[in-house]
Amino acid sequence: MSIEVNPLTIHLGAEISGVEISKPLSDKNTRDIWDALLKWKVIVFRNQKMTHGEQVAFARAFGDLTIGHAVFGHVDGYPEVYSVAKDRWDTRYKPAPQNIRPWTGFHADITAAINPPAVSILRGDVIPPYGGDTLWANLAVAYESLSEPMQKFAETLRGIHKFQPPTGTDATDEYKEMQDRRRLTTEHAIVRVHPETKEKVLYVSPSFLKEIVGLSPRESEQILEIFWEHAVRPEFTFRFKWNTNDLVMWDNRSVVHCAPRDIYESDFDRQLYRVTLLGDTPVGVDGRESISIQGAPIVPISAQAAE
Ligand SMILES: [Fe+2]
Repeated sequence: MSIEVNPLTIHLGAEISGVEISKPLSDKNTRDIWDALLKWKVIVFRNQKMTHGEQVAFARAFGDLTIGHAVFGHVDGYPEVYSVAKDRWDTRYKPAPQNIRPWTGFHADITAAINPPAVSILRGDVIPPYGGDTLWANLAVAYESLSEPMQKFAETLRGIHKFQPPTGTDATDEYKEMQDRRRLTTEHAIVRVHPETKEKVLYVSPSFLKEIVGLSPRESEQILEIFWEHAVRPEFTFRFKWNTNDLVMWDNRSVVHCAPRDIYESDFDRQLYRVTLLGDTPVGVDGRESISIQGAPIVPISAQAAE
């Protein structure tokens, strides 16, 4: 049986139907799902009840997995599964003077690592009746729609990505301890070439990217704001309203995502579970790879288990 791919916006997001992903996938379905992911960058599967083990098995069809989260660990008994719980925020951050901007909270997962996860696979378990959506923005179309002089300029730049508390917050002691155990800082090209599609991607993960190498602090701040403001234009974004048992898979190499904070203004609970595929080291338009400044690469879960 073939899968059906129904696009959800012009630039990104498609719903996949005609396949039960808790069961082993045929080779054809595996290939077709991967092709849809590369093309639409965010793919959603509705109403697919799965256990942690089934989510892990589904993810394994597409490549090596990482530990649940390189900094924050994993669910007991499931080293590949990271719990995205509503209350995880309270244990990590304490409120600080707010400086929230339209792109605050957008990120690609763990771009502070030299090899950020290639793909993230997130499953909805407890979902509020309303609120708590997730947004994604397409960084390939963001690059493509810059003016030509700006594209050329961006291609010459490199950025420093660091694990730090989000803008407008300060870290709790517990978060600081976790972060101290696994410090991550990496220099990535501002325009990376997607390893499979060869698209140029404006690789500007707002939560992690702190500065542009070689520019003055003020130049860096202003240039980054131009890129960020551009990357999250509504035309380049896709917003998803979750239902229980939905699963979303996205290409972390070409999109950023954001969980709006509205859920924290309600008493509703939300519980998601994430599994990530191992990523490679990004490469710029000039062929230069990223450079690790602090921290070891993320390793496949099999190597980690053997440590
Ligand atoms: Fe994330």
